[in-house]
Amino acid sequence: MAALHPLIHVYRDAGQGHVFEYFDTLTEAEQRQLLLEASEIDLEELKVLSETLVLQKKALDTNSFEQLKPAPFESLPQKGGSAKLWALAREVGEDALKAGRVAAFTVAGGQGTRLGFDGPKGTFEVTAIKKKSLFQVFAEKIKAAAKDYGKVIHWFIMTSQQNDKQTISFFQEHDYFGLDFERVHFFKQGRMPAVNFEGKILLESKSSIALSPDGHGGSLRALERSGALNFMQKNGIDTLSYFQVDNPLVRCIDPVFIGWHLLRKSEMSSKMVPKAYAEEKVGHFCIQNDKLCVVEYSDLPMEFQKQRSEAGELKYIAGSIAIHILDREFIRKMAKADKGALAVLPFHRADKKITCLDCSGNIVTPTKPNGVKFELFVFDALPFAANPVVIETERSEDFSPVKNAEGLDSPKTCKEDQMRQAARWLKELGETLQVDSAGLPLVNIEISPLFGYDFFSFKKRWSKLKPKPSFSKDLYLT
Ligand code: UD1
Repeated sequence: MAALHPLIHVYRDAGQGHVFEYFDTLTEAEQRQLLLEASEIDLEELKVLSETLVLQKKALDTNSFEQLKPAPFESLPQKGGSAKLWALAREVGEDALKAGRVAAFTVAGGQGTRLGFDGPKGTFEVTAIKKKSLFQVFAEKIKAAAKDYGKVIHWFIMTSQQNDKQTISFFQEHDYFGLDFERVHFFKQGRMPAVNFEGKILLESKSSIALSPDGHGGSLRALERSGALNFMQKNGIDTLSYFQVDNPLVRCIDPVFIGWHLLRKSEMSSKMVPKAYAEEKVGHFCIQNDKLCVVEYSDLPMEFQKQRSEAGELKYIAGSIAIHILDREFIRKMAKADKGALAVLPFHRADKKITCLDCSGNIVTPTKPNGVKFELFVFDALPFAANPVVIETERSEDFSPVKNAEGLDSPKTCKEDQMRQAARWLKELGETLQVDSAGLPLVNIEISPLFGYDFFSFKKRWSKLKPKPSFSKDLYLT
Protein backbone atom coordinates (compact mmCIF):
# COMPACT_ATOMS: atom_id res chain seq x y z
CA MET A 1 0.00 0.00 0.00
CA ALA A 2 1.31 3.46 -0.91
CA ALA A 3 2.37 5.66 2.02
CA LEU A 4 -0.09 8.32 3.04
CA HIS A 5 0.66 11.83 1.89
CA PRO A 6 2.15 13.77 4.84
CA LEU A 7 -0.61 16.40 4.59
CA ILE A 8 -3.21 13.71 5.24
CA HIS A 9 -1.44 12.89 8.50
CA VAL A 10 -1.45 16.53 9.47
CA TYR A 11 -5.20 16.73 8.78
CA ARG A 12 -5.87 13.57 10.78
CA ASP A 13 -3.87 14.91 13.72
CA ALA A 14 -5.90 18.12 13.58
CA GLY A 15 -9.18 16.17 13.74
CA GLN A 16 -9.95 17.07 10.10
CA GLY A 17 -9.07 13.70 8.52
CA HIS A 18 -12.57 13.42 6.95
CA VAL A 19 -11.42 15.88 4.27
CA PHE A 20 -9.59 12.93 2.69
CA GLU A 21 -12.35 10.35 3.25
CA TYR A 22 -12.84 9.79 -0.48
CA PHE A 23 -9.21 10.32 -1.46
CA ASP A 24 -8.66 6.76 -2.66
CA THR A 25 -11.65 6.93 -4.99
CA LEU A 26 -10.38 10.08 -6.76
CA THR A 27 -8.43 10.34 -10.02
CA GLU A 28 -4.83 11.50 -9.73
CA ALA A 29 -5.76 14.95 -10.96
CA GLU A 30 -8.54 15.22 -8.37
CA GLN A 31 -6.19 14.07 -5.62
CA ARG A 32 -3.69 16.75 -6.63
CA GLN A 33 -6.46 19.34 -6.61
CA LEU A 34 -7.64 18.36 -3.13
CA LEU A 35 -4.11 18.36 -1.75
CA LEU A 36 -3.51 21.77 -3.24
CA GLU A 37 -6.64 23.17 -1.63
CA ALA A 38 -5.81 21.51 1.69
CA SER A 39 -2.35 23.08 1.64
CA GLU A 40 -3.97 26.54 1.44
CA ILE A 41 -5.53 26.16 4.88
CA ASP A 42 -3.79 27.20 8.07
CA LEU A 43 -5.09 24.46 10.38
CA GLU A 44 -3.79 26.14 13.51
CA GLU A 45 -5.62 29.35 12.67
CA LEU A 46 -8.76 27.35 11.90
CA LYS A 47 -8.55 25.53 15.23
CA VAL A 48 -8.47 28.82 17.11
CA LEU A 49 -11.37 30.16 15.06
CA SER A 50 -13.47 27.06 15.62
CA GLU A 51 -12.82 27.17 19.34
CA THR A 52 -13.52 30.86 19.75
CA LEU A 53 -16.14 31.66 17.11
CA VAL A 54 -17.95 28.40 16.43
CA LEU A 55 -17.93 26.10 19.45
CA GLN A 56 -18.42 28.86 21.99
CA LYS A 57 -20.51 31.26 19.97
CA LYS A 58 -20.94 34.25 22.18
CA ALA A 59 -24.30 35.98 22.23
CA LEU A 60 -23.99 39.65 21.33
CA ASP A 61 -23.02 41.31 24.56
CA THR A 62 -24.65 44.72 24.90
CA ASN A 63 -22.45 45.40 27.95
CA SER A 64 -19.50 45.57 25.59
CA PHE A 65 -21.10 48.70 24.15
CA GLU A 66 -21.30 50.48 27.49
CA GLN A 67 -17.96 52.18 26.94
CA LEU A 68 -18.77 53.00 23.32
CA LYS A 69 -18.60 56.62 22.20
CA PRO A 70 -19.18 58.29 18.85
CA ALA A 71 -15.91 58.99 17.01
CA PRO A 72 -14.81 62.58 16.37
CA PHE A 73 -14.31 63.67 12.77
CA GLU A 74 -13.05 66.67 10.81
CA SER A 75 -16.09 68.61 9.63
CA LEU A 76 -16.20 70.08 6.14
CA PRO A 77 -15.38 73.82 6.04
CA GLN A 78 -18.98 74.62 5.07
CA LYS A 79 -20.08 72.79 8.23
CA GLY A 80 -17.75 74.51 10.65
CA GLY A 81 -14.37 72.93 9.84
CA SER A 82 -11.28 75.12 9.42
CA ALA A 83 -11.12 76.28 5.79
CA LYS A 84 -7.42 76.96 6.30
CA LEU A 85 -6.69 73.39 7.34
CA TRP A 86 -8.73 71.92 4.49
CA ALA A 87 -6.84 74.13 2.02
CA LEU A 88 -3.52 73.06 3.54
CA ALA A 89 -4.58 69.41 3.24
CA ARG A 90 -5.17 69.90 -0.48
CA GLU A 91 -1.69 71.34 -0.93
CA VAL A 92 -0.06 68.49 0.98
CA GLY A 93 -2.05 65.88 -0.95
CA GLU A 94 -1.21 67.48 -4.30
CA ASP A 95 2.48 67.50 -3.41
CA ALA A 96 2.33 63.78 -2.59
CA LEU A 97 0.63 63.09 -5.91
CA LYS A 98 3.19 65.14 -7.82
CA ALA A 99 5.90 63.15 -6.06
CA GLY A 100 4.35 59.87 -7.25
CA ARG A 101 3.79 58.58 -3.71
CA VAL A 102 0.17 57.55 -4.17
CA ALA A 103 -1.43 54.42 -5.69
CA ALA A 104 -5.08 53.45 -6.07
CA PHE A 105 -6.35 50.26 -4.50
CA THR A 106 -9.68 48.55 -5.23
CA VAL A 107 -11.14 45.54 -3.46
CA ALA A 108 -13.03 43.64 -6.12
CA GLY A 109 -13.12 40.10 -4.84
CA GLY A 110 -16.89 39.97 -4.27
CA GLN A 111 -19.45 38.78 -6.80
CA GLY A 112 -22.57 40.78 -7.64
CA THR A 113 -24.83 38.26 -5.88
CA ARG A 114 -27.17 40.76 -4.18
CA LEU A 115 -27.34 42.63 -7.46
CA GLY A 116 -28.36 39.46 -9.27
CA PHE A 117 -25.44 39.95 -11.65
CA ASP A 118 -23.43 37.00 -12.83
CA GLY A 119 -19.82 38.10 -13.16
CA PRO A 120 -17.19 40.25 -11.50
CA LYS A 121 -19.04 43.26 -10.08
CA GLY A 122 -16.52 45.67 -11.62
CA THR A 123 -17.77 44.70 -15.09
CA PHE A 124 -21.29 45.94 -14.27
CA GLU A 125 -22.42 48.90 -16.41
CA VAL A 126 -23.30 51.99 -14.41
CA THR A 127 -23.22 55.21 -16.41
CA ALA A 128 -26.27 56.89 -17.94
CA ILE A 129 -25.37 57.26 -21.60
CA LYS A 130 -22.18 55.37 -22.46
CA LYS A 131 -22.99 52.49 -20.10
CA LYS A 132 -19.45 52.38 -18.81
CA SER A 133 -18.55 49.63 -16.39
CA LEU A 134 -17.47 50.34 -12.82
CA PHE A 135 -13.90 49.38 -13.80
CA GLN A 136 -13.93 51.81 -16.74
CA VAL A 137 -15.13 54.67 -14.53
CA PHE A 138 -12.31 54.06 -12.02
CA ALA A 139 -9.71 53.57 -14.77
CA GLU A 140 -10.63 56.90 -16.35
CA LYS A 141 -10.59 58.74 -13.03
CA ILE A 142 -7.13 57.37 -12.30
CA LYS A 143 -5.88 58.13 -15.82
CA ALA A 144 -7.13 61.72 -15.67
CA ALA A 145 -5.63 62.32 -12.22
CA ALA A 146 -2.28 60.88 -13.33
CA LYS A 147 -2.27 63.30 -16.26
CA ASP A 148 -3.07 66.27 -14.03
CA TYR A 149 -0.33 65.48 -11.51
CA GLY A 150 2.20 64.48 -14.16
CA LYS A 151 2.97 61.15 -12.48
CA VAL A 152 2.05 57.55 -13.10
CA ILE A 153 -0.61 56.33 -10.69
CA HIS A 154 -0.37 52.58 -10.19
CA TRP A 155 -3.63 50.72 -9.59
CA PHE A 156 -3.81 47.61 -7.43
CA ILE A 157 -6.92 45.48 -7.82
CA MET A 158 -7.75 42.61 -5.52
CA THR A 159 -9.68 39.80 -7.20
CA SER A 160 -10.74 36.43 -5.85
CA GLN A 161 -10.36 32.86 -7.07
CA GLN A 162 -13.91 33.12 -8.45
CA ASN A 163 -13.43 36.20 -10.59
CA ASP A 164 -9.71 36.65 -11.21
CA LYS A 165 -9.57 35.24 -14.76
CA GLN A 166 -12.75 37.00 -15.88
CA THR A 167 -11.56 40.30 -14.41
CA ILE A 168 -8.20 40.18 -16.16
CA SER A 169 -9.81 39.14 -19.48
CA PHE A 170 -12.21 42.09 -19.17
CA PHE A 171 -9.31 44.52 -18.86
CA GLN A 172 -7.49 42.86 -21.77
CA GLU A 173 -10.57 42.97 -24.00
CA HIS A 174 -10.92 46.70 -23.28
CA ASP A 175 -7.26 47.48 -23.69
CA TYR A 176 -7.01 48.44 -20.01
CA PHE A 177 -9.30 51.42 -20.71
CA GLY A 178 -6.36 53.44 -21.90
CA LEU A 179 -4.11 52.73 -18.92
CA ASP A 180 -0.66 51.31 -19.36
CA PHE A 181 -1.14 47.60 -18.55
CA GLU A 182 2.11 47.57 -16.60
CA ARG A 183 0.58 50.00 -14.12
CA VAL A 184 -2.46 47.82 -13.39
CA HIS A 185 -1.69 45.09 -10.87
CA PHE A 186 -4.08 42.24 -10.10
CA PHE A 187 -3.65 39.99 -7.12
CA LYS A 188 -5.88 37.32 -5.66
CA GLN A 189 -7.23 37.38 -2.13
CA GLY A 190 -6.95 34.33 0.10
CA ARG A 191 -9.63 31.78 0.88
CA MET A 192 -10.98 30.31 4.09
CA PRO A 193 -12.71 26.97 4.54
CA ALA A 194 -16.30 26.80 5.74
CA VAL A 195 -16.95 24.59 8.75
CA ASN A 196 -20.04 22.97 10.27
CA PHE A 197 -21.25 23.90 13.74
CA GLU A 198 -18.81 21.37 15.24
CA GLY A 199 -15.87 23.07 13.57
CA LYS A 200 -15.36 20.35 10.92
CA ILE A 201 -14.29 21.50 7.45
CA LEU A 202 -17.08 21.16 4.87
CA LEU A 203 -16.46 19.53 1.49
CA GLU A 204 -18.00 20.98 -1.65
CA SER A 205 -17.47 17.65 -3.43
CA LYS A 206 -15.42 14.53 -2.80
CA SER A 207 -12.42 16.28 -4.33
CA SER A 208 -12.85 19.85 -3.17
CA ILE A 209 -13.14 21.83 0.04
CA ALA A 210 -15.86 24.44 0.56
CA LEU A 211 -13.58 27.49 0.33
CA SER A 212 -14.66 31.11 0.10
CA PRO A 213 -12.95 34.52 -0.09
CA ASP A 214 -11.48 35.67 3.24
CA GLY A 215 -13.21 39.09 3.19
CA HIS A 216 -11.87 42.49 2.12
CA GLY A 217 -9.66 42.48 5.21
CA GLY A 218 -7.79 39.67 3.48
CA SER A 219 -6.45 42.37 1.18
CA LEU A 220 -3.78 43.34 3.71
CA ARG A 221 -2.28 39.84 3.77
CA ALA A 222 -2.74 39.48 0.02
CA LEU A 223 -0.90 42.74 -0.74
CA GLU A 224 2.08 41.47 1.24
CA ARG A 225 1.93 37.88 -0.09
CA SER A 226 1.71 38.99 -3.72
CA GLY A 227 4.83 41.15 -3.47
CA ALA A 228 2.80 44.31 -4.12
CA LEU A 229 4.15 46.06 -1.02
CA ASN A 230 7.75 45.44 -2.07
CA PHE A 231 6.91 46.68 -5.56
CA MET A 232 5.47 49.87 -4.03
CA GLN A 233 8.54 50.36 -1.88
CA LYS A 234 10.84 50.06 -4.89
CA ASN A 235 8.71 52.57 -6.78
CA GLY A 236 8.47 55.17 -4.03
CA ILE A 237 4.77 54.56 -3.27
CA ASP A 238 3.87 54.82 0.40
CA THR A 239 0.21 55.88 0.37
CA LEU A 240 -2.75 53.81 -0.86
CA SER A 241 -6.16 55.17 -1.75
CA TYR A 242 -8.59 52.34 -0.91
CA PHE A 243 -12.13 52.01 -2.28
CA GLN A 244 -14.74 49.34 -2.95
CA VAL A 245 -15.67 48.18 -6.42
CA ASP A 246 -19.35 49.03 -5.97
CA ASN A 247 -19.14 52.83 -5.73
CA PRO A 248 -18.58 54.75 -9.01
CA LEU A 249 -19.00 58.13 -7.35
CA VAL A 250 -15.88 57.70 -5.22
CA ARG A 251 -13.06 60.18 -5.71
CA CYS A 252 -10.48 57.47 -6.41
CA ILE A 253 -7.75 60.05 -6.03
CA ASP A 254 -8.66 62.81 -3.62
CA PRO A 255 -5.78 65.19 -2.83
CA VAL A 256 -7.59 66.65 0.18
CA PHE A 257 -8.14 63.28 1.82
CA ILE A 258 -4.55 62.25 1.09
CA GLY A 259 -3.39 65.54 2.58
CA TRP A 260 -5.32 65.07 5.83
CA HIS A 261 -3.83 61.59 6.16
CA LEU A 262 -0.29 62.88 5.66
CA LEU A 263 -0.70 66.02 7.75
CA ARG A 264 -1.84 63.96 10.71
CA LYS A 265 0.87 61.32 10.19
CA SER A 266 -1.94 58.81 10.17
CA GLU A 267 -1.45 55.14 9.38
CA MET A 268 -5.05 54.67 8.27
CA SER A 269 -7.62 57.34 7.51
CA SER A 270 -11.30 57.22 6.65
CA LYS A 271 -14.13 59.23 5.15
CA MET A 272 -17.51 59.51 6.83
CA VAL A 273 -20.90 60.80 5.80
CA PRO A 274 -23.59 61.76 8.30
CA LYS A 275 -26.03 58.83 8.40
CA ALA A 276 -29.18 59.65 6.44
CA TYR A 277 -31.46 57.97 9.02
CA ALA A 278 -31.00 55.79 12.09
CA GLU A 279 -31.55 52.44 10.35
CA GLU A 280 -29.21 53.14 7.42
CA LYS A 281 -27.13 50.02 6.78
CA VAL A 282 -23.61 51.38 7.11
CA GLY A 283 -20.84 50.87 9.63
CA HIS A 284 -20.46 53.44 12.45
CA PHE A 285 -17.22 55.18 13.40
CA CYS A 286 -16.94 54.80 17.16
CA ILE A 287 -14.41 54.98 19.95
CA GLN A 288 -14.03 51.90 22.10
CA ASN A 289 -11.29 51.56 24.74
CA ASP A 290 -9.85 54.83 23.43
CA LYS A 291 -9.42 53.37 19.95
CA LEU A 292 -11.15 54.27 16.71
CA CYS A 293 -13.20 51.43 15.27
CA VAL A 294 -16.10 50.70 12.94
CA VAL A 295 -19.11 48.92 14.39
CA GLU A 296 -21.25 47.33 11.67
CA TYR A 297 -24.96 48.14 11.49
CA SER A 298 -25.68 44.47 12.11
CA ASP A 299 -23.65 44.55 15.36
CA LEU A 300 -24.72 47.86 16.88
CA PRO A 301 -28.01 47.44 18.79
CA MET A 302 -30.80 49.50 17.23
CA GLU A 303 -31.33 51.39 20.51
CA PHE A 304 -27.81 52.79 20.05
CA GLN A 305 -28.37 53.58 16.39
CA LYS A 306 -31.47 55.58 17.35
CA GLN A 307 -29.87 57.58 20.20
CA ARG A 308 -29.95 61.33 19.64
CA SER A 309 -28.17 64.31 21.13
CA GLU A 310 -30.05 67.09 22.91
CA ALA A 311 -30.04 69.00 19.64
CA GLY A 312 -31.84 66.06 18.03
CA GLU A 313 -28.92 64.83 15.92
CA LEU A 314 -28.15 61.10 15.73
CA LYS A 315 -25.48 60.35 18.34
CA TYR A 316 -23.75 57.73 16.16
CA ILE A 317 -23.88 59.95 13.11
CA ALA A 318 -20.60 59.02 11.40
CA GLY A 319 -21.37 56.44 8.73
CA SER A 320 -18.56 54.53 7.07
CA ILE A 321 -18.56 54.55 3.28
CA ALA A 322 -15.58 52.21 3.09
CA ILE A 323 -13.11 54.75 1.71
CA HIS A 324 -9.70 54.80 3.36
CA ILE A 325 -6.11 55.88 2.93
CA LEU A 326 -3.56 53.36 4.14
CA ASP A 327 0.12 53.71 4.84
CA ARG A 328 2.20 51.03 3.08
CA GLU A 329 4.26 50.03 6.11
CA PHE A 330 1.15 49.88 8.29
CA ILE A 331 -0.29 47.35 5.85
CA ARG A 332 2.93 45.35 6.10
CA LYS A 333 2.75 45.40 9.89
CA MET A 334 -0.86 44.19 9.88
CA ALA A 335 -0.19 41.57 7.21
CA LYS A 336 2.77 40.11 9.02
CA ALA A 337 1.12 40.05 12.42
CA ASP A 338 0.82 36.42 13.35
CA LYS A 339 -1.36 34.55 15.80
CA GLY A 340 -0.63 35.74 19.29
CA ALA A 341 0.59 39.13 18.06
CA LEU A 342 -1.22 42.18 19.36
CA ALA A 343 -2.00 43.73 16.01
CA VAL A 344 -3.99 41.03 14.31
CA LEU A 345 -7.25 41.42 12.41
CA PRO A 346 -10.06 39.42 14.01
CA PHE A 347 -12.16 37.07 11.90
CA HIS A 348 -15.93 37.51 11.82
CA ARG A 349 -18.34 34.61 11.84
CA ALA A 350 -21.13 34.44 9.26
CA ASP A 351 -23.66 31.62 9.43
CA LYS A 352 -24.57 30.56 5.88
CA LYS A 353 -26.37 27.97 3.83
CA ILE A 354 -23.48 26.07 2.33
CA THR A 355 -23.92 23.47 -0.39
CA CYS A 356 -21.77 20.54 0.71
CA LEU A 357 -21.43 16.77 1.06
CA ASP A 358 -23.53 15.12 3.74
CA CYS A 359 -22.26 12.21 5.82
CA SER A 360 -23.28 9.72 3.11
CA GLY A 361 -21.30 11.58 0.48
CA ASN A 362 -24.27 13.20 -1.30
CA ILE A 363 -24.26 16.86 -2.24
CA VAL A 364 -27.00 18.73 -0.35
CA THR A 365 -28.29 22.29 -0.63
CA PRO A 366 -29.60 23.26 2.80
CA THR A 367 -32.67 25.42 3.40
CA LYS A 368 -31.28 26.93 6.60
CA PRO A 369 -27.73 27.83 7.69
CA ASN A 370 -25.68 24.69 8.14
CA GLY A 371 -22.21 26.13 8.58
CA VAL A 372 -19.94 29.04 9.23
CA LYS A 373 -17.78 31.17 6.94
CA PHE A 374 -14.97 33.35 8.26
CA GLU A 375 -14.23 36.85 6.98
CA LEU A 376 -11.76 39.62 7.73
CA PHE A 377 -12.84 43.28 7.50
CA VAL A 378 -10.34 45.94 6.51
CA PHE A 379 -11.77 48.50 8.93
CA ASP A 380 -10.77 46.26 11.84
CA ALA A 381 -7.24 47.55 11.23
CA LEU A 382 -8.29 51.01 12.48
CA PRO A 383 -7.77 50.34 16.22
CA PHE A 384 -4.15 49.40 15.46
CA ALA A 385 -3.39 52.49 13.39
CA ALA A 386 -1.43 55.41 14.80
CA ASN A 387 -3.17 58.80 14.58
CA PRO A 388 -6.19 57.65 12.56
CA VAL A 389 -8.18 60.55 11.14
CA VAL A 390 -11.80 60.56 9.97
CA ILE A 391 -12.86 63.33 7.62
CA GLU A 392 -16.34 64.30 6.56
CA THR A 393 -17.31 64.20 2.91
CA GLU A 394 -20.44 65.08 0.97
CA ARG A 395 -22.37 61.93 0.21
CA SER A 396 -23.37 63.40 -3.17
CA GLU A 397 -19.69 63.76 -4.16
CA ASP A 398 -18.33 60.43 -2.94
CA PHE A 399 -20.92 57.74 -2.34
CA SER A 400 -23.62 56.07 -4.38
CA PRO A 401 -22.96 52.35 -4.41
CA VAL A 402 -24.62 49.70 -6.54
CA LYS A 403 -25.60 46.94 -4.16
CA ASN A 404 -29.18 45.87 -4.85
CA ALA A 405 -31.06 45.12 -8.07
CA GLU A 406 -33.83 47.52 -7.09
CA GLY A 407 -34.69 50.14 -4.49
CA LEU A 408 -31.94 51.65 -2.36
CA ASP A 409 -28.38 51.60 -3.68
CA SER A 410 -29.48 50.19 -7.02
CA PRO A 411 -28.34 50.86 -10.62
CA LYS A 412 -31.21 53.36 -10.91
CA THR A 413 -30.33 55.41 -7.80
CA CYS A 414 -26.64 55.32 -8.77
CA LYS A 415 -27.25 56.61 -12.31
CA GLU A 416 -29.48 59.36 -10.97
CA ASP A 417 -26.88 60.40 -8.40
CA GLN A 418 -24.24 60.63 -11.16
CA MET A 419 -26.56 62.86 -13.20
CA ARG A 420 -27.45 65.01 -10.18
CA GLN A 421 -23.75 65.52 -9.61
CA ALA A 422 -23.28 66.65 -13.23
CA ALA A 423 -26.21 69.04 -12.93
CA ARG A 424 -24.91 70.42 -9.64
CA TRP A 425 -21.43 71.06 -11.07
CA LEU A 426 -22.88 72.83 -14.10
CA LYS A 427 -25.21 74.97 -11.99
CA GLU A 428 -22.38 75.86 -9.67
CA LEU A 429 -20.55 77.24 -12.70
CA GLY A 430 -23.51 79.40 -13.58
CA GLU A 431 -25.13 77.27 -16.28
CA THR A 432 -28.90 77.14 -16.49
CA LEU A 433 -30.28 73.70 -16.98
CA GLN A 434 -33.60 72.29 -15.98
CA VAL A 435 -33.81 69.89 -13.09
CA ASP A 436 -36.76 68.35 -11.27
CA SER A 437 -37.56 68.94 -7.59
CA ALA A 438 -35.01 66.27 -6.60
CA GLY A 439 -32.20 67.90 -8.59
CA LEU A 440 -32.34 65.40 -11.47
CA PRO A 441 -31.71 66.98 -14.90
CA LEU A 442 -34.53 66.63 -17.41
CA VAL A 443 -32.12 65.30 -20.08
CA ASN A 444 -29.49 62.60 -19.56
CA ILE A 445 -26.06 64.04 -18.79
CA GLU A 446 -22.86 62.05 -18.45
CA ILE A 447 -19.47 63.56 -17.70
CA SER A 448 -16.53 61.41 -18.68
CA PRO A 449 -13.94 61.28 -15.88
CA LEU A 450 -11.48 62.22 -18.64
CA PHE A 451 -13.28 65.57 -18.82
CA GLY A 452 -13.61 66.02 -15.06
CA TYR A 453 -13.13 63.52 -12.25
CA ASP A 454 -14.07 65.94 -9.46
CA PHE A 455 -15.48 69.45 -9.31
CA PHE A 456 -12.01 70.97 -9.31
CA SER A 457 -10.86 69.30 -12.55
CA PHE A 458 -14.30 69.77 -14.14
CA LYS A 459 -14.22 73.50 -13.47
CA LYS A 460 -10.85 73.83 -15.21
CA ARG A 461 -12.00 71.99 -18.34
CA TRP A 462 -15.43 73.60 -18.47
CA SER A 463 -14.07 77.13 -18.28
CA LYS A 464 -11.94 76.45 -21.37
CA LEU A 465 -14.68 74.74 -23.37
CA LYS A 466 -15.79 76.80 -26.39
CA PRO A 467 -18.52 76.85 -27.53
CA LYS A 468 -20.49 75.54 -24.59
CA PRO A 469 -23.00 72.79 -25.44
CA SER A 470 -26.73 73.22 -24.94
CA PHE A 471 -28.78 71.20 -22.52
CA SER A 472 -31.76 70.63 -24.77
CA LYS A 473 -30.92 66.97 -25.44
CA ASP A 474 -28.80 64.17 -23.95
CA LEU A 475 -25.25 65.35 -23.36
CA TYR A 476 -22.02 63.38 -23.01
CA LEU A 477 -19.00 65.47 -22.10
CA THR A 478 -15.59 64.05 -22.93
C1 UD1 B 1 -19.67 47.49 3.39
C2 UD1 B 1 -19.21 47.71 4.84
C3 UD1 B 1 -20.02 48.76 5.56
C4 UD1 B 1 -20.06 50.05 4.74
C5 UD1 B 1 -20.58 49.73 3.34
C6 UD1 B 1 -20.49 50.97 2.46
C7 UD1 B 1 -18.49 45.47 5.43
C8 UD1 B 1 -18.66 44.31 6.33
N1 UD1 B 1 -19.34 46.47 5.56
O1 UD1 B 1 -20.88 46.78 3.43
O2 UD1 B 1 -19.46 49.07 6.82
O3 UD1 B 1 -20.92 50.97 5.38
O4 UD1 B 1 -19.77 48.72 2.71
O5 UD1 B 1 -20.84 50.68 1.15
O6 UD1 B 1 -17.59 45.53 4.65
N2 UD1 B 1 -14.96 42.20 -1.06
C9 UD1 B 1 -13.84 41.54 -1.47
N3 UD1 B 1 -13.62 40.31 -0.96
C10 UD1 B 1 -14.44 39.70 -0.07
C11 UD1 B 1 -15.59 40.39 0.35
C12 UD1 B 1 -15.83 41.65 -0.17
O7 UD1 B 1 -13.05 42.05 -2.27
O8 UD1 B 1 -14.13 38.59 0.36
C13 UD1 B 1 -15.21 43.55 -1.60
C14 UD1 B 1 -16.39 43.60 -2.54
O9 UD1 B 1 -16.01 43.29 -3.86
C15 UD1 B 1 -16.83 45.04 -2.36
C16 UD1 B 1 -16.49 45.34 -0.90
O10 UD1 B 1 -15.54 44.40 -0.52
O11 UD1 B 1 -16.05 45.90 -3.16
C17 UD1 B 1 -17.70 45.40 0.04
O12 UD1 B 1 -18.22 44.16 0.26
P1 UD1 B 1 -19.71 43.92 0.71
O13 UD1 B 1 -19.75 42.58 1.35
O14 UD1 B 1 -20.63 44.13 -0.45
O15 UD1 B 1 -19.97 45.03 1.83
P2 UD1 B 1 -21.32 45.68 2.33
O16 UD1 B 1 -22.12 44.68 3.09
O17 UD1 B 1 -22.02 46.35 1.22
